[in-house]
Amino acid sequence: MGILDGKTALVTGGSRGIGRAIAERLASDGALVAVHYGSNETAAKEAVAAIEAAGGRAFAVRALLGTPGDVDTLFAGLERGLEGRGLDIVVNNAAIQGYGASTLEGATEADFERTFAINARAPLFIVQRALPLMSEGGRIINISSGVTWFAIPEVVYAMTKGALNVMTRSLAHVLGERGITVNTVSPGITETDMNQWLVDSTESQRKVAAMVALGRHGQPDDLADAVAFFASPDSRWVTGQTLEVNGGLWLGPREER
Ligand SMILES: NC(=O)c1ccc[n+]([C@@H]2O[C@H](COP(=O)([O-])OP(=O)(O)OC[C@H]3O[C@@H](n4cnc5c(N)ncnc54)[C@H](OP(=O)(O)O)[C@@H]3O)[C@@H](O)[C@H]2O)c1
Repeated sequence: MGILDGKTALVTGGSRGIGRAIAERLASDGALVAVHYGSNETAAKEAVAAIEAAGGRAFAVRALLGTPGDVDTLFAGLERGLEGRGLDIVVNNAAIQGYGASTLEGATEADFERTFAINARAPLFIVQRALPLMSEGGRIINISSGVTWFAIPEVVYAMTKGALNVMTRSLAHVLGERGITVNTVSPGITETDMNQWLVDSTESQRKVAAMVALGRHGQPDDLADAVAFFASPDSRWVTGQTLEVNGGLWLGPREER
């Protein structure tokens, strides 16, 4: 018996990286998981296949966030897959960082609109559309970033994550009366496709490890396990919170390792 037996979950961007690890973890806890993706169908199919191979249940849903009608498309596919069941858990994970298109020098107004549309607008309207499907005990988990408290050149990306943290607090306040909790999991530096600079360079990995109390960069599973807590009944008395899941990133000055 899994702690999420009989539950359903939507994981946006569940096809790769942190989202895939979250989808696999929630499925292994017993949930039927909608693995959402934007364009990489192969990755989504692989994620669903991995869940099924491990004895879990999942289906893929395509919707390119940040485009007109994105949330309508997502919910059409989601409701097809749910076959009349409600939705218990929403994980707003999909995001883009944009790198050059997210800096003060490089960003255009179009880049700004697109990044906000994917990283901040979509999560809000996904929650709005999910609420009629959700009942008491529902869980909303937003995946933010440590860039809300440390500065990076990608200011637009960081601004979207700041908005997400504010959204968590506001929604927790209004959804409490329905018994729905809303929390944020905030990753540190984690090995995914988004961080190719880390994957490709042992020197970068060494530098990151030196900034982290636990002495290494994060893996997607490190985040998925924290999300599993917020998805589970064990987190029933926690809402409106941001949990930094980063191995102890920049806790203070330290000797060079
Ligand atoms: N990696 C880190 O170090 C780190 C640190 C802090 C916070 N985070 C946050 O953690 C979350 C996951 O990051 P990650 O590193 O796992 O990312 P990733 O490896 O780049 O994966 C991104 C996922 O989001 C989906 N996605 C991206 N843009 C989309 C769009 N426009 N429409 C629909 N789906 C879209 C992708 O699907 P397709 O492939 O189909 O597009 C993919 O499943 C993000 O919110 C990110 O900001 C990551």
